Amino acid sequence: MPVKPTKDLDMPIQILGTGSYTPEKVLTNQDLEKMVETNDEWITTRTGIRERRIAAEDQATSDLALEAAKNAVDASGLGAEELDVILVATCSPDMFFPSTATIVQDQLGAKKAFAMDLSAACSGFIYGLEVARNLLESGRYQNALVIGAEKMSSVIDWEDRTTCILFGDGAGAAVISREENSSGGLGPCELGANGALGHLLCIPGGGSRKPLSEEVLAEKSHTIEMAGQEVFKHAVTSMTRTAKRLLKEAEWAPEDLALVIPHQANQRILEAIRSRVGVEKDRVFVNVDKYGNTSAASIGIALDEAVRQGGLKPGDKVMLLAFGAGFTWGGLLLEWRSPV
Ligand code: COA
Repeated sequence: MPVKPTKDLDMPIQILGTGSYTPEKVLTNQDLEKMVETNDEWITTRTGIRERRIAAEDQATSDLALEAAKNAVDASGLGAEELDVILVATCSPDMFFPSTATIVQDQLGAKKAFAMDLSAACSGFIYGLEVARNLLESGRYQNALVIGAEKMSSVIDWEDRTTCILFGDGAGAAVISREENSSGGLGPCELGANGALGHLLCIPGGGSRKPLSEEVLAEKSHTIEMAGQEVFKHAVTSMTRTAKRLLKEAEWAPEDLALVIPHQANQRILEAIRSRVGVEKDRVFVNVDKYGNTSAASIGIALDEAVRQGGLKPGDKVMLLAFGAGFTWGGLLLEWRSPV
């Protein structure tokens, strides 16, 4: 059964091109053993992560975003000047303002586009796709660039072994467009949030609640704080529930899915969701071993790798799934672009 768009569309919203970028520097578990009291065996068995990429000192989030954006725009066949909307999902922006998206807009030469950042932590890429899709569906805009980009290494306490082993830097992007005479495209989406649990995964200092001060620096509250086990439980519950609801809405069976691309946080979380939803092992895209948790960038990077590895054929049914700080979560079904 073809994917059911959320609205009755003559022109479905399609992904025209994807792109990604990960920095050159590789930080392995063995490297981390020299920095904090940890070991490769602990990290691998608890998380599935073997290495992650770390941006150079002079690379900001917008630099990573720009490289992914260029790749996505090239792949889309459009020119940057044809973009109407640029959204950057990030929780590690270059600065409070201007937005990282406006920096990318300038560097990319997307003169016509309006640009803004979107903050939904690790769920940011799906939040971005859904916001951009609705802008395009309004009929006022034709083409949007959605980017998830993070320099998580800049918001990590490198002396905290419970968090520093988990995260990495990178960016993923997709160009989406209203397309005439095509089938498939972006289908049902579910987004959710529960702000009551925000304290379980946060950067409490350095913002307006607790501006940067000597105290903030001393207590390192400008870096990530996380209640790992709580986050783990909620991530599994939320993503499983979202996946099941979306499958029901689209009237798809788990075995109809050619690929599930979940947020890459932890191999054990991926496995727990996979078995609860009832998807075969080879249908779940995994690259957390190479990049760790790149937050808002992870789904964009994974989607681009799947595309470039030839992992998606026209008509393939795909599910994106995410969970992150807030808490926020989201899922999106899509049917890979069919030839027109
Ligand atoms: N190396 C070695 N030991 C470590 C360690 C590390 N890097 N980090 C923690 N430990 C220790 C703990 O101190 C604890 O020791 P203790 O038993 O002596 O007190 C022990 O390992 C177990 O810690 P615990 O926190 O119970 O481990 P866990 O099985 O819950 O795994 C996480 C920790 C962080 C890997 C896991 O909770 C997790 O992945 N949570 C979700 C995180 C996430 O995905 N966040 C982003 C969501 S978008």
